[in-house]
Parts: sequence; C-alpha cells; structure tokens
Amino acid sequence: MKNDITILAIESSCDETAAAVVKNGTEVLSDVIASQIEIHRRFGGVVPEIASRNHTLALPAVVEKALADANVTGADIDAVAVTYGAGLLGALLAGVSYAKGLSYAWKKPLIAVSHVKGHIAANYVAHGDLTFPYICVLASGGHSAVLKIDDYDKIELLGCTKDDAAGEAFDKAARVLGLPYPGGPEIQRLAMEGNPTLCFSKPFKSESGYDFSYSGLKTAVVNYMANNKDGANRADVAASFQLAAVNQLKDAAIRAAKAYGIKRIALSGGVGANLKLREELDREATENGIKTYFLPLGLCTDNAVMIGAEAYFMIKKGKPFADLSLDAEAVLKVES
Ligand code: KG4
Ligand code: ZN
Repeated sequence: MKNDITILAIESSCDETAAAVVKNGTEVLSDVIASQIEIHRRFGGVVPEIASRNHTLALPAVVEKALADANVTGADIDAVAVTYGAGLLGALLAGVSYAKGLSYAWKKPLIAVSHVKGHIAANYVAHGDLTFPYICVLASGGHSAVLKIDDYDKIELLGCTKDDAAGEAFDKAARVLGLPYPGGPEIQRLAMEGNPTLCFSKPFKSESGYDFSYSGLKTAVVNYMANNKDGANRADVAASFQLAAVNQLKDAAIRAAKAYGIKRIALSGGVGANLKLREELDREATENGIKTYFLPLGLCTDNAVMIGAEAYFMIKKGKPFADLSLDAEAVLKVES
C-alpha cells in the first residue's frame, strides 16, 4: 500500500450507526453518527431487531455524509473497515453487509475490526503522547476489563467482570431509579445532587486480583428501591451506586499498574465518560505517580473513528484482509 492510508470505517454493533473517514490511523477526516437512542428509549433499552432494521435504513446516508464531510469519493479510499464483532448479531450484519458491498464495488480491501480493539484504538487518535506499555480500563455496555497493552496488537487481559458489564449495571440501576436509557449519564447527573451514604458493595474475591463483579451491586440497588419505596433518597442511591461501581474499575486498574510497574492508565468505552470514575482514578493515580489518559466524550461511546484507527494499525502490523466470506460474530475474545 502507498504511504498515506485513508480508510472508510463503519460501526453498527449496537444502537449507533456510524461511519468515518480516517487517514493514517489518527487524522479524522469525518465522523458521522446516527444515534438510535430516541427510538430505543421508550423500551428502556436496545431492542436488537429494531436496531438492525434502523442500521439498514441509516447506513447509506451515514456513509454518504462521511465521504462528503471528508471531501473524498470511493476512489480516494484505500480500504473499507467494519466492526464484525462483538455485538448484536443482526446489528453487526447490517454494517458487515454494507461494507462488503462497498469493498466489492470499489475493489478495495475489506478489514474486519473487533469492536473492543476499536475502543482501545480510540486512545491513539486522542493521545499522541501515549506510549507502550499502558493499562487500559475498558468499560462499556458490553465489556468491562482491565488490559495490559504492550503494542497495538499485543493485548493481555488481566481481569474482567465475572457477570454484568459496568455499563449494563449503570443502565439497570438507572431503570429502577426511574431514569431513562442510557442510564450512565443520567445516574451521573442525579448523583451530583446526592451523597454516597449507602453501602451497596458486597465483598468480592477476585481470583486474578483484577476481576470485578456488578450483579451483586445491581441487585443491592434493586432490593433497596423495592424495600424503601417512598423513603428512598434517589440522589443518594445514585451517588452510592456510582461510587461503588467506579471504585471497582479504579481499584483493579491501580493494582495492575502498580503490580506491573506501569505509569500510564487509559480509560476507554462509554463508562469511561463517567466524571466520578475520572476523578477517582485521577486522584489515586496521581498519588502513585501514574499518568491518566481520558478521551473526549465522542471517542468514549461508540463511533466509527476508533474502527478506522484500529484498521490502520492492523494494516501496519501486517494482519490479513478479510474477504466476502466475512461473517458477524456476537462474541469475540477481548484479546483475540
Ligand atoms: O461504549 P458504549 O457506547 O457502547 C458499548 O460498546 O456498549 O457504552 C455504552 C454504555 C451504556 O451502558 C451507557 O449507560 C454507558 O456506556 N455510559 C456511561 C456514561 N456515558 C455512557 N456510564 C456512566 N457514566 C457516563 N457518563
Ligand atoms: Zn462500544
């Protein structure tokens, strides 16, 4: 391939239909997102079949806008990248099918990108000064993990949630508090009006030392709300839940950084937008001489820029291209 590599990337793993044009992994020429949040909000969460249909409807215009905003045409694109997993199968298939069509029509290579690796690669777009190795806390609606990143393609899973993902817990806690989907930003907002006076966390024994658990915390909030119907101070519940939730991620990340003697911690994924998590992590990291790296909000939640970035580093690392037999995968190993 030539020196400059311009990639059209497509992301449709959950409820955002996104396309972006990214040059050389870090230069964002366009970044388009059509969110389905309003469509799913009335159901209190993402309805997979509705998500797939809306991706199929939205993709042509989203891709066209991404090309127009970047002022390029198919002829200027060197490769088409797409999220092929992990995520909702039907939703992924919409993006994969569209990307295959473009790759075939334009006669350009197809690159199959892992959504989780995309979330990690968002760090390379935002942090020009981030060097290896670093600890990455990945916390989203589908994943929660603490990773040691030694190179673009050398990712070691140190610990992960043993049950629910962090974002899932935020969304479920929000629902019992009567807050709309997605719950993370809503809990954050309500928590600012309260104090973390309630104790929801149960002791959890992590075998690796870096694992965590969210189902007990979620159930504690559900039970508390059921038992204190009228008397609950919702803001205190939100603040207490949030602190317990972010402390699990923060503690595992700091433990990992100290154990491996690593001085950098980066935060990826939708929950990485949480201000309390940033505040707590930053405080304890600073006390330990560790530097933190936080993403702009648009690179925390799902987007296609991160997929274009990861695809570029896959090319640089000599990973094989995909072909038209590419299929969507609902589950992928984080480090695969
Ligand atoms: O990374 P993402 O956009 O999609 C997945 O890959 O899952 O993450 C979405 C999740 C949702 O659960 C949402 O509630 C959560 O990220 N989230 C937050 C915040 N913003 C989004 N959680 C806590 N605090 C936030 N500010
Ligand atoms: Zn995501």
